Amino acid sequence: MPQPLTAMPSRGLTGRIKVPGDKSISHRALILGALATGTTTITGLLQAEDVLATARAVAALGAEITRANGAMVVKGQGVGGLRPPAGALDFGNSGTGSRLMLGVVAGHDMVADFVGDASLSRRPMGRVLVPLECMGLAVEGERRTLPLRVRGTPDLVPIVYDLPVASAQVKSALLLAGLHAPGRTTVVEPVPTRDHTERMLAHFGAELSVEDRADGRRAVSVAGDAELEGTAIRVPADPSSAAFIVAAALICKGSDVVIEGVLMNPTRTGFLATLREMGARIEVLDLGEDCGEAVGDLRVRTSVLKGVTVPPERAPSMIDEYPVLAAVAAFAQGQTRMQGLAELKVKESDRLAATAAGLASCGVEASIEGDDLIVTGTGEVPGGGTVETHMDHRIAMAFLTLGLGAARPVTVDDVTMIATSFPNFVPLMTQLGAAFQ
Ligand code: S3P
Repeated sequence: MPQPLTAMPSRGLTGRIKVPGDKSISHRALILGALATGTTTITGLLQAEDVLATARAVAALGAEITRANGAMVVKGQGVGGLRPPAGALDFGNSGTGSRLMLGVVAGHDMVADFVGDASLSRRPMGRVLVPLECMGLAVEGERRTLPLRVRGTPDLVPIVYDLPVASAQVKSALLLAGLHAPGRTTVVEPVPTRDHTERMLAHFGAELSVEDRADGRRAVSVAGDAELEGTAIRVPADPSSAAFIVAAALICKGSDVVIEGVLMNPTRTGFLATLREMGARIEVLDLGEDCGEAVGDLRVRTSVLKGVTVPPERAPSMIDEYPVLAAVAAFAQGQTRMQGLAELKVKESDRLAATAAGLASCGVEASIEGDDLIVTGTGEVPGGGTVETHMDHRIAMAFLTLGLGAARPVTVDDVTMIATSFPNFVPLMTQLGAAFQ
């Protein structure tokens, strides 16, 4: 049953909060924990539907997962040591879980069925199946979307693969498969994408090399027949969840908010860089490092913003933040042009279309030109509309955030999908002073 919710115009958001753990790092911690020998203790794991689906999948493949003292403990089976699942692996809404696990299953002598919800079943899997097939994965039938039946092999072949799209999910699936292949598997990305898999592989003891090329491309290479050793992982707060709080503090008058322990990996900070160019007052306090990842506290205050152009090469470092950036752009003076957003069309929904339509229903001037999204802000947002979320958590949260700063309430048609990434979004916003009905 869809659950609508209305964001009421709100002012003066204040307080110190922590948002849940990073989704990308949480998936990877569970997966690498399952492929390691010994135990991996994960603190701060995101307890949200997407990550729980990955936890169930690795458990169905033989990793033991228990809870102890607030941490998740994964007893791994070693690279190549997972066993065939008794039933289908259900990834729910999660593109990351399903694509990364295709890379894992590829290296095992097993048949596995991959299924997901209606949104995930529409998303392209060919981008990961094509290179995995080159390595030896067999896919039953002609399908390139879930549900899929695949057969892995212990005799994978290492490859060198030039990614046709900048996708951390595809890169990660190939590196995970590469752990099982003899020799080196190399992935060349057109622009650097989030590098959590690389960092975490190194943390687990894999042999890895990264080469930044003069033309801006990045080559990542992993040594196969790898041995990973269980370790401790502390998951920093998710910058893609923090983004909604940052946005709300910027647009709701009289706000001053601190968000603690946010992941500050440079492959994830494009949103903050863009907001600063728009004039946002954002300070990074206490920048430090934890488990190979940069972490800091963010202080955000209400700001007068101006429109900017966001270049296409920045997209991978803020790919999940465009809907909420578009919401912020609606409050800026002038035009914000977000360039090169083709990948947004194949996210949990067609986010390019959903964002433009949502803005229009809130009285904001927005248009799509090719793969660019153009938002014309006037400093004031009328609101008053109902936004269709298309089973997309980030569309729901972006427009609830927009509603908090708008002149009139904004309703989103369904908030149930928020549980996939940020289950306590509404309570946390409420704690800061936001109002919902
Ligand atoms: C993710 C990579 C991104 C991002 C997704 C998480 C990851 O997808 O949109 O939410 O954890 O690797 P793509 O790599 O397909 O762009």
